[in-house]
Amino acid sequence: MVARKERVGQIPLVSPFPGETKFQLKEPVASQGEVDPRPSPVRNVLLRRLSFSSRLKSTHSRLCIQACSTNDSSQHQCPSLAFSTENSSTRGWRVMGTLLGLGAVLAYHDHRCRAAQKSPHIYTREEVKSHSSPETRIWVTLGSEVFDVTDFVDLHPGGPSKLMLAAGGPLEPFWALYAVHSQSHVREILAQYKIGELSPEDKLPPTLKTSDPYANDPVRHPALKVNSQRPFNAEPPPELLTETYITPNPIFFTRNHLPVPNLDPDTYRLHIVGPPGRKPLSLSLDDLHQFPKHEITVTLQCAGNRRSEMSQLKEVRGLEWRTGAISTARWAGARLCDVLAKAGHQLRATEAHVCFEGLDSDPTGTAYGASIPLARAMDPEAEVLLAYEMNGQPLPRDHGFPVRVVVPGVVGARHVKWLGKVSVEPEESHSHWQRRDYKGFCPSVDWDSVDFDSSPSIQELPVQSAITEPKEGEMVEAGEVTVKGYAWSGGGRAVIRVDVSLDGGLTWQVAELDREEQRPRKAWAWRLWQLQAPVPPGKKELNIVCKAVDDSYNVQPDTVGPIWNLRGVLSNAWHRVHVRVAS
Ligand code: MTE
Repeated sequence: MVARKERVGQIPLVSPFPGETKFQLKEPVASQGEVDPRPSPVRNVLLRRLSFSSRLKSTHSRLCIQACSTNDSSQHQCPSLAFSTENSSTRGWRVMGTLLGLGAVLAYHDHRCRAAQKSPHIYTREEVKSHSSPETRIWVTLGSEVFDVTDFVDLHPGGPSKLMLAAGGPLEPFWALYAVHSQSHVREILAQYKIGELSPEDKLPPTLKTSDPYANDPVRHPALKVNSQRPFNAEPPPELLTETYITPNPIFFTRNHLPVPNLDPDTYRLHIVGPPGRKPLSLSLDDLHQFPKHEITVTLQCAGNRRSEMSQLKEVRGLEWRTGAISTARWAGARLCDVLAKAGHQLRATEAHVCFEGLDSDPTGTAYGASIPLARAMDPEAEVLLAYEMNGQPLPRDHGFPVRVVVPGVVGARHVKWLGKVSVEPEESHSHWQRRDYKGFCPSVDWDSVDFDSSPSIQELPVQSAITEPKEGEMVEAGEVTVKGYAWSGGGRAVIRVDVSLDGGLTWQVAELDREEQRPRKAWAWRLWQLQAPVPPGKKELNIVCKAVDDSYNVQPDTVGPIWNLRGVLSNAWHRVHVRVAS
């Protein structure tokens, strides 16, 4: 009861992305929390429901105290409840009587609930199974407990259809998929709907390991800093990130929205929908290898890289990426323009988009998808790849085996992994990740006012840089300090300079950039940089700052406030690291 009271005024808001749900306060920060894909009215219902139930609970407990208490002070309090005039005194007693009556009812209900917990109703799995529609009521189980969630279905933050998938059966397989559920407040909500227990013979664990959709995910490198296990999202530690220009495959950052599909390269087929009147192409991996092999070095950055800095300012919805949702690899594969041409596609006079569909999908069968403009896809200079190799190896499973899209200079979200289908459409992909996410907004836009249709989907990313060494809070030697980091800009714009400050931005020094080739308008990969600088004598601490400049003279904003957005994307303010100096 106490734990539930602590939740008063909180709204469960759910990201469309597994692993990204939080509860948040109803008050002003409500607009800054997790993605709530449902229209506001539903959320309002939820809010009303939660605040009503919390009101009810507190009224209930107050009334219980008054109704049940026999001590002198409460007896004294009752008649003196500010009923001062003659008639109001009678009315007052009547109201008091009603309240006591209601209190008694609620106390009786509470008593019954407690009694039910002491000697719960026992149900078989068969009985539970027969309760799988609103007509029969909707029951689910968790462990050995049985819940009637009929009244909660419409309020389910992930949408009623997701909860209905579990109707009449165990919640575990779905909770395993959407790991957001393994939080105590979710159990607290569910507890309110408990109606009994499973019969002893039905208490066997409902989930076999094989029903865990993530059971087949690959084994990962222990150095990765995991942001969410299911789906798997992880970044390399900063000190390893800039250790080498090319990020080794096992520590390349991973951003998955769903379980990793286990695809057989021998039966794999990539479907390319042809223009009207042309047959579609169905390409095997071998077929793809028949196209001229193209190889390029490309940096991939997630739109949420450095989100944690935005959320320090004001809560945002999303995984807490630090500086590592970025990595660089040498990719090889067929050029998308060659494959599209083979399927009969040409540039069009009207707007068109190339839509990609992954072979990873959620329990409703919804696959990951995204799109890029046809003009970029058809441009040989844009070098968009259907990649089957990463750093000279077949793609690792986490990174899209056997085939993924690589769109140089463009946000990671469009580099669709486990590619299953490519089509050319008059509109952008209808995927959630194209239309309802990965878009930027004004800092004042909140989850009640956001209109996703009003913003274009992110394609090319802005200029970015970050310090990877030293680390925040580290103790550096007096004398000389070495500062290292990366810098990158979207759209093939080369980084031409990185400025580093040791005094929070008062004075600056130019860092040394690596000597890797930067092709004009095709600078697809990052530049690693470093600065060795004397530590000013007597300094006890340093506020190290970096900022990059690209060849369009775009610069990073100095603070995160003016670029803060509810989804925490495009976080590219000056990166700051505070260190102490050894004396
Ligand atoms: N493709 C599929 N099919 N499923 C996904 O979840 N995630 C996207 C993109 N392609 C994703 C996907 C996102 S948001 C990013 S940032 C990149 O893949 C990450 O690629 P990586 O995991 O190889 O680093």
